Amino acid sequence: MSNSIDNLLHETRRFTPSEEFRANAVAGADLYDRASSDRPAFWGEQARELLHWHTPFTRTLDWSNPPFAKWFDDGQLNVAYNCLDRHVEAGNGDRVALNWEGEPGDSKTFTYAELTAEVKKAANVLAGLGIGQGDRVAIYLPMIPEAVISMLAVARLGAVHSVIFGGFSAESLRARIDDASAKLVITADGGWRKGKVSALKPAVDASLTIGGPENPSTVEHVLVVKRGNNDVAWVHGRDLWWHDQIDAANPEHEAQPFPAENPLFILYTSGTTGKPKGILHTTGGYLTQVAFTHKNIFDLHPETDVYWSTADVGWITGHSYVVYGPLANGATQVIYEGTPDAPHPGRWWEIIQKYGVTILYTAPTAIRTFMKLGHHIPAQFDLTSLRLLGSVGEPINPEAWVWYRDVIGGGTTPVVDTWWQTETGAIMVSALPGVTTLKPGSAQVAVPGIHIEVLDDQGTPVPKNSGGLLVVSEPWPAMLRGIWGDPDRFVETYWSTFPGKYFAGDGARLDRDGDIWLLGRVDDVMNVSGHRLSTAEIESSLVSHPRVAEAAVVGATDETTGQAVVAFVIVRVIEDDDEPGAAKALADEILDEVVAETVESLAAELRAHVATQIGAIARPKQVFIVAELPKTRSGKIMRRLLRDVAEGREIGDTTTLADTQVMKIISGTVG
Ligand code: WTA
Repeated sequence: MSNSIDNLLHETRRFTPSEEFRANAVAGADLYDRASSDRPAFWGEQARELLHWHTPFTRTLDWSNPPFAKWFDDGQLNVAYNCLDRHVEAGNGDRVALNWEGEPGDSKTFTYAELTAEVKKAANVLAGLGIGQGDRVAIYLPMIPEAVISMLAVARLGAVHSVIFGGFSAESLRARIDDASAKLVITADGGWRKGKVSALKPAVDASLTIGGPENPSTVEHVLVVKRGNNDVAWVHGRDLWWHDQIDAANPEHEAQPFPAENPLFILYTSGTTGKPKGILHTTGGYLTQVAFTHKNIFDLHPETDVYWSTADVGWITGHSYVVYGPLANGATQVIYEGTPDAPHPGRWWEIIQKYGVTILYTAPTAIRTFMKLGHHIPAQFDLTSLRLLGSVGEPINPEAWVWYRDVIGGGTTPVVDTWWQTETGAIMVSALPGVTTLKPGSAQVAVPGIHIEVLDDQGTPVPKNSGGLLVVSEPWPAMLRGIWGDPDRFVETYWSTFPGKYFAGDGARLDRDGDIWLLGRVDDVMNVSGHRLSTAEIESSLVSHPRVAEAAVVGATDETTGQAVVAFVIVRVIEDDDEPGAAKALADEILDEVVAETVESLAAELRAHVATQIGAIARPKQVFIVAELPKTRSGKIMRRLLRDVAEGREIGDTTTLADTQVMKIISGTVG
C-alpha cells in the first residue's frame, strides 16, 4: 500500500486527450450530466438504446428489497440474440466477430453470420441433451472459439453457465459442479499452452469420480471438443464428441425471450473464507452495463476497430469484455489461445501486427513482464494500429502505465485504468478517453451512472486528499444478484460493513482533485497476476496435508505479479500426553531436522499439494517451515509480520504479540 501512496503523492504527469481523439470520441462529457440527475432513468435510456428487447420494460430499478435489486424486470430479451442474430439482421453478417489465433499459429475467423450459425447448432445440441431455462452447464475449456460458442448457446436457451478456468484442479472443478448442480460439462481433449498440448479431460474424468460410486455427481453428459488431438479416456453413454453432435445438429434455432432477471451465469471467485463464492449475474442489467462501458470506455467504433482483450473466458473480464460486451456491440475482436511467450516473446505484438489491433485490454502484471523483457521486443513489430490501451485487475504503477503508453502505444494512445470486480459485473471506475485528463496510476472517476464513495471506518465520506474504503452507494445494473445458494452470505459479505452500501473490499484514496487511487485489498484476498486468491482457501488446503499442523498464507509484494503467495507452515507433531512440553521440544527438533535435510522437498511437496487441490494458480511461490506463528494475545495470526518476513523487511512492531520470541524463531528460520 505504501507504494501506491508514494505514487499518489509524487506523480504529477498528466495526459490530455489529443484534439483528434476528442473529436472522434464516442463518449463526451455530457454523459456525466445526463447520468447524474436520475441514474435509473439514465440506465433505462442506455438499455433501450444498446439492446433489443423482445418485450420492452416499463420499470427500470426495483430496490424495494435491498440489497436484492431488480433491473428492467418486466422486460424480456435474449442475450445471444442481442450478441448475434440482430447484427446479422441489421446487415452486418459479413463483419468479422472473432479472429481466433491458436498458439501454434493456426487460426480461424468467424463472421457474425458464421458465429450465429454455430451458436444455433450448439443450442440445438444442448437442448437435445435436456438443457433448458435455468439449468446449469459447466464450461471447462481453453481459449478456443467453442468457449465463446458454448457460453452463447447456454445463454440462448435461458440456461446458466458456470465457466471454470482451465487452470483449476479436478477438486476445484468438482466443488463448483456440485455447488451449482451442473447437468452438463463442456470440455476439450486439451489446449495449447507454452508450446505443448495441455490435457483437460483427465481433470474432468477425475472430478466426476471423486468420492467413488457413493458420491455421484449431477453431471449427465460431458461434451468434448477436439482441439489437442491427444488421447482421451472415454465413458460411453456419458461422453460425446462436440463435432459429432454439431455436425448432426439442426441449423435452425429461434431465440426465445427470457425475463431480464433470468440468471445468465455463475462465476466462482475467492473470498475471505475457504469456500469460493458463486457470484450470480442476470441478463438485462448486466448486458446493458457491459455494452455501455465497452462502447464508451474503449471508444468502440465497431465498423473500423479491432479489439483485443487478452483475458481468459474463465475470469470475469473474459465474460464481460471478451464475450458479452464486444459481441453485444457488434465489435470485431481477436482471441488468442496461448501464452504471451509461445513460441517467442514477441507473440502478442505479432498478433497485434497481424490483425491490426486498435484497442488492447490487458493486465498490469503482463505489462510489467514485458517491461522486464525490454522495449526492443515490441520494437520489432508494427504496433501503429493501436489507438487505445486498457488496464485491469490490479493497481497499475505509474512507471508501467507510462511504459505501456510510450512503448506499446507509441507515446500517443490514451491508457484507461479500469477498476471493477467479478461482483460488479462491469467497469465501475475509469476515465473516459476522449474526456478525462489522464493521471498514470489512478483509475480516476466513477463511470457515468455509477455512484462511488470513499468512506472512513464510521461510514463518513472522506475529504479530498485522504484515504478510506471504496463503496458503491447506489445499485447499478450489472451488480451481482447474489451468491448462488447463499443469500445470507451475500448480505453479510457485501452489505453489512456499511448498511445499504456495497463494500468492495478495496482501500482507496482521493487526491486533491477528488480522483480515485486504488490501494489494494483490505481483506484477506490476495491479487496474484490480477487473479483473486483467498488466503483462507490456500491455508485450508495446506492443513489438509498430513504433515501440516498449522498454516498461514500472505500475499507478499512481487515486482511482476503484484502479489505472490507465501506460506508459513508448522509441521505436525504427535502430542505426548505424559510429557507436557514435549511437543514444543519435538517441534524444535523436527524443525532442525527439517531445516537440515528435507525443507526443500517438503516445501516442494506442499506447493504441489496446493496445485493439485486448488489449481496451479494458487501454488505458493515460497513455503517457509516454521516452529510457531506470530499471534496476538487473542490468538489472531499477525499477517503483517509475516508479510514483513516474506518481503525481506525488518520486522515491525511486535508489542501486541503473545510471545515475542516467536518472530525470532521465524526470522531465524528464513534468514
Ligand atoms: C482488483 C477483475 C486496482 C481489486 C475485474 C478488486 C483493481 C479485484 C483494478 C477484483 C484496478 C481490479 N485497479 N485494483 N484497475 N481492477 N482490481 O473479481 O482489488 O478478479 O477488488 O475482477 O481486483 O478482482 P476480480
